[in-house]
Amino acid sequence: MRNNVSPLISFLLCCGMILLTLRSATGELSYSFPEEMKRGSVVGNIAQDLGMDRSTLASRKAHFDTEDNRKQYMNVNNGDLVVAERIDRESLCGKKPSCILQLELVLENPLELQRISLHVQDVNDNSPLFKKDVMKMEIHESTHKGARFSLDEAHDADIGENAVKSYSLQSNDHFILNIETQPGGRKHCELVLERELDRETQKEMNLLLVAVDGGSPQRSATVSIHVTVLDANDNAPVFSRPAYKASLPENSPLDTIVITVSASDADEGVNGEIMYELDHVSENSNVFSLNSKSGEVRVTAPIDYEQESSYDIRISAKDGLGLASYCTLIIDIKDVNDNPPVVSLKSLVNPILENVLPGTEVGVITVQDRDSDNNRQVKLSIQPHAPFKLVPSIKNYYSIVTTGELDRESTADYDITITATDEGSPPLSSSKLIKLSVADVNDNPPVFEERSYSVYVVENNTPGSTLCSVTARDPDWRQNGTVIYSLLASKLSGNPVSSYLSINADTGSIHALRSFDYELFRSFEVCVMARDNGSPPLSSNVTVSVFITDVNDNTPQILYPAPEGNSFMTELVPKAAQGGSLVSKVIAVDGDSGQNAWLSYHISKSTDPGLFKIDLHSGEIRTQRDISDSDNMKQNIVITVKDNGQPSLSTTCAVYLLISDNLADVPELKDMQSYDGSNGSNLTSYLIIALVSVSTLFLTFIVIALGVRFCRRRKPRLLFDGAVAIPGAYLPPHYAEVDATGTLRSAYNYDAYLTTGSRTSDFKFARSYNDNTLPAGQTLRKTPEDLGEFFEEPEGSPEVRPNLTSGSSAGHVVRRC
Ligand SMILES: *[C@@H]1O[C@H](CO)[C@@H](O)[C@H](O)[C@H]1NC(C)=O
Ligand SMILES: *[C@@H]1O[C@H](CO)[C@@H](O)[C@H](O)[C@H]1NC(C)=O
Repeated sequence: MRNNVSPLISFLLCCGMILLTLRSATGELSYSFPEEMKRGSVVGNIAQDLGMDRSTLASRKAHFDTEDNRKQYMNVNNGDLVVAERIDRESLCGKKPSCILQLELVLENPLELQRISLHVQDVNDNSPLFKKDVMKMEIHESTHKGARFSLDEAHDADIGENAVKSYSLQSNDHFILNIETQPGGRKHCELVLERELDRETQKEMNLLLVAVDGGSPQRSATVSIHVTVLDANDNAPVFSRPAYKASLPENSPLDTIVITVSASDADEGVNGEIMYELDHVSENSNVFSLNSKSGEVRVTAPIDYEQESSYDIRISAKDGLGLASYCTLIIDIKDVNDNPPVVSLKSLVNPILENVLPGTEVGVITVQDRDSDNNRQVKLSIQPHAPFKLVPSIKNYYSIVTTGELDRESTADYDITITATDEGSPPLSSSKLIKLSVADVNDNPPVFEERSYSVYVVENNTPGSTLCSVTARDPDWRQNGTVIYSLLASKLSGNPVSSYLSINADTGSIHALRSFDYELFRSFEVCVMARDNGSPPLSSNVTVSVFITDVNDNTPQILYPAPEGNSFMTELVPKAAQGGSLVSKVIAVDGDSGQNAWLSYHISKSTDPGLFKIDLHSGEIRTQRDISDSDNMKQNIVITVKDNGQPSLSTTCAVYLLISDNLADVPELKDMQSYDGSNGSNLTSYLIIALVSVSTLFLTFIVIALGVRFCRRRKPRLLFDGAVAIPGAYLPPHYAEVDATGTLRSAYNYDAYLTTGSRTSDFKFARSYNDNTLPAGQTLRKTPEDLGEFFEEPEGSPEVRPNLTSGSSAGHVVRRC
């Protein structure tokens, strides 16, 4: 029992604290006992084992020699080996499989050294122990199945059976435990990944690892394994929606946020950091910008619906390590009424003739609005008060059509304003100004400013003088309105009118080509035509009445007696003639009219001034007193006939009177006369007598005929004195009748104041007078019509009717255009 300790005994010792004292072959005492016995515990009866009794042992002062101040674990007390100090095997021997304390027992008297070895036996007094309470592990979630992760071992101060015997892992989803026993019996354990981790489902877990020793009772230790699942970039970002739709009004201000896209990434850290990016496939997507962090899509350029009505943009979201996903962003641009309608002129007939019919197409316009829907519905209007309207044609084409007649002379240019308004809200509008000219058509004839023209020209005018000017206006354009004047061909007294007058074709001024003679014609009318230069030309006519006014240019003409030197007129005066008897009569005419023809008679010289007198107005020569025998038989009177013109013209004549009752005295007259006709004087006397008789008879007849005529037609104006007719109204106080405006009336009279001759007077008909005095080549030919016109003087004319019944060649030439 002292030498070998069987396993059974050891077991018992351990368990039942059975103390064994072993005596080695060398006589060395050996004790085996479990550690951690209480102080004072008796390990063995050392006295007995030494073969001494307890008292001997005591007397021999048995004690343990302890060197170097080492702890004295054992005491000898009354022959027993007693535990003096706590004996911890683990601290004494650590992991040594056997723990033996060598003690030396010193006995005195005799001094004896007894070696004692103490076998300290292990007791399971230590639990397994992990270094830390918590084991921290970080495992990537991407770690493959089967990966091993070594775990810290648990330590147990005990040895042998009492040391760590096994481990166990709390059951879990991902790991199992693999334990390997290494040479030396150490257990090494590892975690083996049985199922793959996913940080996104479980990002950390706690596993419980239990280590147990083999002691009895068994001790254990537990450690928590804290596994952190490390992220792997195993998740791509995910957009909240596969496609985004946004709508945006055009012209949105820059920086407007259109939409915010968002994606999430289950990963963390860099792996979950999302960067948004525009997929720049289409160029127009640079209209938008994308905030790479926030996902805000903003407007960066003007947006024009008319250019692009919708954008299809791809957006990518990438995490830090480049996993990407995509989404589509469709941005619909909403139309805003930002384009006014545009009216454009496609064609225009310019200028347009003024005579086009209403409804003529003048031009074509189109209208366009780049907006859409209602914003492009356009209404057109044309400014009122212009004779144009719009007629819709195909599509957005419109015709500009006239609605009425055009007249260049009233409106030569039109500014046609066409306004287009769309139906947007607010509506936009624009205007187009179309300038249209109206081209001239020769549709207006020239029009004279006056309905007729009257010209007064004083006779004896100088040829070439300007008489008057006519003006016609033509509102047409250029040559269509250029007026050309001309005289219409006609005859005046048998001569073409162009030989009397000329007209300046451009100015319309009328010139006299010759000098007019009032005594030839007092007035005439010509037609002036104004013609424009159009094609065909238009014309109009106007009557120009030329009135010639009288000038005292004719000296009185004495008809009877014949002018001196050409005849020998001798009146016989009966000796019995009493005072106041009519002796003779001077007959004179004046080619002028009015005052200019108002004749007065004076005796300027006479043989016996007291014997004869002449009536101032009638020209009647009468005796002033009775003839006496003392009176000279031959009387000679010179008579002056004056007209009343300014200055007055006069002429003289001589009247030879023979106071005798006997015609036989007549030959004596030969002496008084200056002509030389002495031979055949008897024949001359007879001729004179015959002539006087015939003349007197004829004159009487004419005077009677005139008297009859005027008595029938008007109140008789002629006073008859015997056979002598005297015009009763030959001395009007105001010969030239002046009307309210002071101008001469257009009706003229050609009055020949005839002084009727005495019974024996020779009479010359006025006609012959005129025929004689007409200038060569100017003989007026009197056609029956002319004569008719001459006498068709208005009945109401206040003028004295011409008392020359026939044969007046001067007159009023009337011509109506
Ligand atoms: C004059 O009128 C005619 C038509 O009558 C026209 O053809 C012409 O062009 C006009 N002349 C001018 C200068 O306007
Ligand atoms: C003017 O007179 C001429 C000649 O008599 C004639 O041919 C023309 O038609 C007249 N014009 C007018 C407008 O009366």
